[in-house]
Amino acid sequence: MEVNELVRLSVLAKENSYSPYSRFRVGAAVLAESGKIYTGTNIENASLGATCCAERVAVFNAVSGGERKIRALAVCSDSDEYTMPCGICRQVLAEFADDDMPIYCVRADGKYKIRTLGELLPGAFRSF
Ligand code: THU
Repeated sequence: MEVNELVRLSVLAKENSYSPYSRFRVGAAVLAESGKIYTGTNIENASLGATCCAERVAVFNAVSGGERKIRALAVCSDSDEYTMPCGICRQVLAEFADDDMPIYCVRADGKYKIRTLGELLPGAFRSF
């Protein structure tokens, strides 16, 4: 997998962001086990709690496409800070990804830092 391609597709997905309330655009791209890449963007709602993050949209797109394993994630925004997945998204990722999955946290200038899911969500709750 080409990391640059995953990052590029996350930036492309950000263009479709529906974020009239926060004006904070987020894009995400996940590499699934099949080798296919699925993208997502944040979709807000006037009832703010109904908003869905870009990462979850990307994961749900992948799962809806029949995937059950996510191998990598890139997430970006227009911020000068590295874009980090929120807690809920980390938990959703833990359902379909291993602790060593790389997450490429992208800044507006395209630079990224890499964190594993296990670093961002240690001791994840996975099954009961
Ligand atoms: N957002 C994401 O899409 N992903 C995250 O990990 C953090 C937050 C979105 C939700 C909302 O539309 C906006 O960013 C501001 O919180």
